[in-house]
Amino acid sequence: MAVLVTGGAGYIGSHTVVELILAGYDVVIVDNLSNSSRESIERIKTITGKTPEFYHADILDRKALREIFAKTEISCCIHFAGLKAVGESVEKPWEYYHNNILGTLTLVDEMRRHGVKNLIFSSSATVYGDQETMPLTEASPLGTCSNPYGFTKAMQEQILRDIQTADREWNVTLLRYFNPIGAHPSGLIGEDPRGIPNNLLPYITQVAVGRLPHLGLFGDDYDTPDGTCIRDYIHVVDLAIGHLMALRRIEEQTEQSALQSAPQLGVYNLGTGNGYSVLEVIAGFTKATGIEIPWVLKPRRSGDLAVSYANADKAWTELGWEATYDIHQMCAHAWNWQSKNPNGYE
Ligand code: NAD
Ligand code: UFG
Repeated sequence: MAVLVTGGAGYIGSHTVVELILAGYDVVIVDNLSNSSRESIERIKTITGKTPEFYHADILDRKALREIFAKTEISCCIHFAGLKAVGESVEKPWEYYHNNILGTLTLVDEMRRHGVKNLIFSSSATVYGDQETMPLTEASPLGTCSNPYGFTKAMQEQILRDIQTADREWNVTLLRYFNPIGAHPSGLIGEDPRGIPNNLLPYITQVAVGRLPHLGLFGDDYDTPDGTCIRDYIHVVDLAIGHLMALRRIEEQTEQSALQSAPQLGVYNLGTGNGYSVLEVIAGFTKATGIEIPWVLKPRRSGDLAVSYANADKAWTELGWEATYDIHQMCAHAWNWQSKNPNGYE
């Protein structure tokens, strides 16, 4: 039995594939390479000594999915494939709803046709919207998203909840990521955004490597101690291991399912529980690497929340998972990747 990883050539997917292979799983990747490179598959091989089966295919392509399910016995699907750039989603809402929603509907339909009803889904802290009370727990109310990308996550969560309610054979795990950063300690795989990075850490590393002149800091007048926004940054390897732990829980549930009547829907925050401001991240990067990051103050970025950080106790209690890397290790690993690969996978 293999684990199907959609979007497995991407940033979080490739790190998760590494951890799955190292834990002894057979992995099948389906990725259309719209935001990733085949080179990441080669790098996974270098790290693990094993080549995951790779299909260059779109999850909206039923025929391609059918061939994959027909060829391989799949036990569970970890579903990363999706478009994820917040700003782009405002410009191209149709593309985001089409790819993310229809992609998930098509995948889930082909899964059930082939009797595969175990799914782990990449959700996001964005589904909480703007909340007064921190830290965010899984019991925090869901809020209003500030962009089409966020709405696709909230909608996909709802679709998967409803499917699980209608058919209790489904085991569905929704993992709400906070802010994934860093890279594999080998420096062989990491985040390789196309064009100018939207996110803080890739922007900082591209300034550090000389690809960009300075960082624009979006607002210093928020209601936070230093006026800059606070986020819960989490090392991508910790995040990847969170998927492994979620997979193990699903396997236990599948074994015990005959004895259980409780619904098999799990929702977990994957964060560290610590919030860092933008200025603290810049200082943390300098401390970890010795490199000063020039920055200039810019106006607030539309849609940014002042503060967002997790309570991740539930993931610890139910999955036995907790984050292990601190902010300096996250920055050091992000820099290790960027300095070894100044132009990403190119
Ligand atoms: P990524 O863009 O690096 O990975 C996504 C992968 O999916 C890419 O390799 C892309 O080529 C592939 N893909 C997209 N549409 C596809 C389709 N229709 N068919 C097949 N492949 C397709 O992004 P990532 O940062 O690794 O994010 C993975 C998942 O986690 C996404 O669903 C994203 O929304 C979610 N997420 C990411 C973050 C973050 O900050 N990186 C935060 C919360 C949630
Ligand atoms: N920031 C800057 N300059 C930049 C980039 C970011 O000052 O060039 C600031 C932002 O204003 C924000 C903080 O750095 O205060 C973090 O911004 P990111 O873009 O790195 O992360 P976000 O919290 O905005 O968003 C991320 C993902 C979303 C996801 C969300 C919650 O990009 O997909 O986390 O999980 F929805």
